[in-house]
Amino acid sequence: MDYFAYRDGELHADGVPASEIAREYGTPVYVYSGGAFADGLRALKAAFGGIPVRICYSVKAASNLTLLGIVSELGMGADIVSGGELFRALRAGIPAGNIVFSGVGKTAREMAEALDAGILMFNLESEGEMELLAKVAAEMGKVAPVSFRVNPDVDPHTHPYIATGLRESKFGIPHGEAPGLFARALGLPSLRVLGLDCHIGSQLTTTGPFADAVKVMANLLETLRAAGADIRYLDLGGGLGIRYKDEVPPTPSEYAHAVTGALAGFPGLAGLTLVIEPGRSVAGNASILLTRVLYLKRTPAKSFVIVDAAMNDLVRPSLYGAYHAIRPVRESAPDAPVSTVSVVGPVCESGDFLARDRELPVVAPCDLLAVFGAGAYGFTMSSNYNSRPRAAEILAEAGSARVVRLRETYEDLVRGEPI
Ligand code: LLP
Repeated sequence: MDYFAYRDGELHADGVPASEIAREYGTPVYVYSGGAFADGLRALKAAFGGIPVRICYSVKAASNLTLLGIVSELGMGADIVSGGELFRALRAGIPAGNIVFSGVGKTAREMAEALDAGILMFNLESEGEMELLAKVAAEMGKVAPVSFRVNPDVDPHTHPYIATGLRESKFGIPHGEAPGLFARALGLPSLRVLGLDCHIGSQLTTTGPFADAVKVMANLLETLRAAGADIRYLDLGGGLGIRYKDEVPPTPSEYAHAVTGALAGFPGLAGLTLVIEPGRSVAGNASILLTRVLYLKRTPAKSFVIVDAAMNDLVRPSLYGAYHAIRPVRESAPDAPVSTVSVVGPVCESGDFLARDRELPVVAPCDLLAVFGAGAYGFTMSSNYNSRPRAAEILAEAGSARVVRLRETYEDLVRGEPI
């Protein structure tokens, strides 16, 4: 189902007219569709059929408590990368036993917090981290459940900034070093190795790299089991791509098929529980960013549409050159005049743009535009740059809308700054 569709000439978000949301809550504003977000989670779970799989939603993609509440209601878990994300996940009611903790730089304090909460697993990324966790757990009189995040050296064919499973990446343990690390872990009684983990990158649009990674991991798993490891979980990270422009990403069932197909070559591994950490594929197309046109500006070289959202609200175009579809909220006729414009924000940087040299229907000041595919790494990567208060977040669901994060105020900007 298309949760962001035109009806009666106007874009609706999960049944609510976008212009109504803008009028009521102002712009720029992130509008999530509760239906789209929940469907994304359910589709992944359903795709694996009867195969044991834990869906641990990757909190960094979109971490609003209300969205995490949906994850919790569906009985799913969370993939976190910081103490802050642990706090959010627990606050939203996600049971600690459904939480996995990833990331290359966990601090002793974050480890202690997660041990205290009783999370499912720490995904360890280096020997140093393993030693520190063993020490923290021993001091607390606990045994830390861990999995090794391994770098399978598989090219995900994605943007270099979001490729994580290549040899030169900072992430994971080189797969050749995992058996040695496991042998060391056996000598650390405050650790229990339960899983193997990888995450090769984000916005993957083919299944091949996932299948290749599964094979590397399954081989390693067999080696570790032969060495006495009691590995029950194979965590494959996130990475499933979405359509921003004209990509044709794998469907959840194509993805699940690729994974289970690759595992079928390893009958000895039957009984393993899979963990997946989807972020973008759940949240990405579950939100639009609404922005209002402030000015039109034409220079001898270019035409600009200056809008009230900027790189501080959505940094992906500036940071990755990412494409986000932009359409007027009021539906334009198929034969409406178009012009080639750059859609830019008020921030004082030439890199502040939402779209460059884009053909758009001709717009006028006060018109509303919708920036699509803004749900993943949109609000969560937003900042206060140029002392711009962060946008509000709205949840639309089955025809009604409510605020799930208030627009920041000027007072919010200076909170915690004593004079
Ligand atoms: N698990 C781990 C360990 C991760 O590092 C990530 C994302 C995920 C899961 C979720 O991956 P997803 O399903 O969303 O592909 N800011 C970038 C994306 C960074 C991804 C970081 N890691 C962007 O806006 O494209």
